[in-house]
Amino acid sequence: MRSRPRALASPRIINIYDLRHLAQRRLPRVVFDYLDGGAESEVTLRENCRIFDDVTFRPRQAVAIPECDLRTRVLAADLAFPAILAPIGYSRLMHPGGEVAAAAAAEEAGLAYCLSTISGHKLENVRAASKGPVWYQLYLVGGREVAEGAIDRARRAGFSALVVTIDTPVAGMRERDPRNGMKELLGGSLFSKLPFLPQMFARPGWLASFLLDGGVPKLENIVIPGKGPMSLIDVTAALSHAVVTWEDIRWLKRIWTGPIVVKGVLTGDDARRALDEGAAAIIVSNHGGRQLDGAPAALRVLPEVVAAVNGQAEVLMDGGVRRGSDIVKAICLGARAVLLGRAYAFGLAAAGKPGVTRALEILREDVERTLRLLGCPSVSALNSSYLNLPKHW
Ligand SMILES: Cc1cc2nc3c(=O)[nH]c(=O)nc-3n(C[C@H](O)[C@H](O)[C@H](O)COP(=O)(O)O)c2cc1C
Repeated sequence: MRSRPRALASPRIINIYDLRHLAQRRLPRVVFDYLDGGAESEVTLRENCRIFDDVTFRPRQAVAIPECDLRTRVLAADLAFPAILAPIGYSRLMHPGGEVAAAAAAEEAGLAYCLSTISGHKLENVRAASKGPVWYQLYLVGGREVAEGAIDRARRAGFSALVVTIDTPVAGMRERDPRNGMKELLGGSLFSKLPFLPQMFARPGWLASFLLDGGVPKLENIVIPGKGPMSLIDVTAALSHAVVTWEDIRWLKRIWTGPIVVKGVLTGDDARRALDEGAAAIIVSNHGGRQLDGAPAALRVLPEVVAAVNGQAEVLMDGGVRRGSDIVKAICLGARAVLLGRAYAFGLAAAGKPGVTRALEILREDVERTLRLLGCPSVSALNSSYLNLPKHW
């Protein structure tokens, strides 16, 4: 076993919820709530996690498995187990290492990393941190001309897929953000910041690392012609004029020659539409419960999307994955792999790269243990016969 800081080792950190707790202790409230929270009443946020409890396992007992094979292939890349690190905007606010640290930890774990448009590190530096597969997630913040610049840079740097997020015609109402002064802290006058500053001083370790890192980072990959990188603004403002339509996907198909992944599909109809527009993969996702509150849990609609796609593209899912057994359930229901969002971001926020590494190690061990307990020798052999589904599904 690799050596790791004691603060991240068992018994202090046994599961992802332990990393969440550590992140909460390190981050100011505004940053922790940005990471942890969801839209409106947070019904979808909670449901994403809860739904996994509705699905139980049908293990095959008394089976010896000398070698357990966790590998899978996604968009022609080998992954050590079926997980990809999801795009997480503002990662550099959680830890100075941010996107670079997460990409490096992904490579070491044998996984792919997806970089968000809302990144504080240059995409070239993120690419350089990993020899493994790295994807670029696109928002049309700043319009098509700005996106073309980023896509061109991503192609030259060697990003292997473009992920287009389609569930953000506007930003969801994440009520914790305005309460904590997100907008004022990121861009307001000193006077407007004042009421919200005590939460920063309550976390001196985070504050010191943030100030040493140069304070609020620029959005290095949203470069406005003639002006340079965009300032970091709050997410509501960033997404207010950034709707992506099917017409935009057609345009992207013309300028990006690699695979396009459509993220944010919740119905069979939209999945078929994405196929018609040439998507190589589809991500069943409700944005981690951060957009339309009341949208169904991602796992619940996975079977509908898998049936609609009918093997014509790879189906991935995200939302609520906190344990390896959750990953196994999603694979049994037809996902090729899952994307991990908060599960690794809690690790990043808790301790930078070693925190991400610890999160991925926990999940990998969980997946292997679950497979052995199921009596299943490999991820590729998983299917719905290993599950009991609720009658109404
Ligand atoms: C703090 C945070 C920031 C996110 N930023 C982005 C983003 O920039 N682009 C995007 O497509 N999805 C973004 N997402 C959504 C994730 O990519 C993913 O869909 C979601 O986190 C999955 O749910 P989970 O956190 O329960 O695993 C973000 C999620 C979180 C928690």
